[in-house]
Amino acid sequence: MKKHNTRTLRNHKIQKGTAPLQMLTCYDFQTAQMLNESEVDLLLVGDSLGNVILGYDTTVEVTLEEMIIFSSAVKRGAPDKFVVADLPFGTYSTFESGIENATKLFQKSKTEAIKLEGARPHHLELIKRLTESGIPVMGHIGLTPQSVHELGGYYTHGKDEKSKERLIKEAKDLEEAGVFCLVLECVKEDLSKSISESLNIPTIGIGSGDYTDGQVLVINDLLHLGKNDPPAFCKPIENFYEQKKEAVSKYLTQKKTVNPYNDGTSLNH
Ligand code: KIV
Repeated sequence: MKKHNTRTLRNHKIQKGTAPLQMLTCYDFQTAQMLNESEVDLLLVGDSLGNVILGYDTTVEVTLEEMIIFSSAVKRGAPDKFVVADLPFGTYSTFESGIENATKLFQKSKTEAIKLEGARPHHLELIKRLTESGIPVMGHIGLTPQSVHELGGYYTHGKDEKSKERLIKEAKDLEEAGVFCLVLECVKEDLSKSISESLNIPTIGIGSGDYTDGQVLVINDLLHLGKNDPPAFCKPIENFYEQKKEAVSKYLTQKKTVNPYNDGTSLNH
C-alpha cells in the first residue's frame, strides 16, 4: 500500500466514503518490521511506552531520550509507514522548551510527525509555530494521560455540558492552529461523532465509539501481550501472553528431559 503523508491524511474523512484510518502503537524494531508489511495506515510511538514496555506507573515518567531511542528504532523498522512520535510530559511546558524538544525529537527520530496532548493557549501557539516550521503535529484531547494527576484519574470525557463545550472548542482551536489529525481519547460517543463531523481534519478515536475517522489501539492490548487484561474498549484478537508462556514452558519441559551428562546413574546438578 502507498505510504500516507499529511496531505492524504488531512483529507481522510469517513463522510467522504473512505474506510476508517487504522493506527496502531509500536515501540520496537522487529514489531515495526512486521507492521511495515501490514495494511496499517500509520504508527504511533506513544508514550504508553512507559506503561507497556518500561513498566512505569504513568506516562509522566517517560523522558525525551527514551522517546528518541524507541521512535528511531520503530522508524528504522517501518520506513514505508507514516510514523508519529509522542512528545513526552514536561518537554513542552513552555513555548521555548516545546520548540526545542519537538525539533530534537522530530530530527533525531526521523518520524514523520509528532503528537502532543492538550489545547491550552501555549499548546496552540506551539503547534502553530511547529507546523509553520515544517513539523507536522497530531493533536490529542479528551483523556490526556500526561495530565492524569491533574484530571484526577482515567475516565470518559464529555459527559456534562461544560466538558462538552470545552472539548468542542479545543477541537476547533487545534484545527485552526494547524494539527493535521486529532486523537480523541475516551470521549463520549455522541460527542466524538459531532466533533468528527464538524472538523475538516480526521479524528482518530480510542475508547470514543465508532464514529471517528479512524481508530487507534495500543498494540500490546490488541495482541494481549501483557499479564493484565486490556481496557474494556479493546477486545484482544489473540492472547499472546498465554501463548508465549506456553511456548516457553514447552521448551523448558523438553530441555529438562534431556541431559547429555546424565547417564542415568548420577543425579548430580
Ligand atoms: O501513548 C499512546 O499510546 C497514545 C494513544 C493511546 C493515543 O497516546
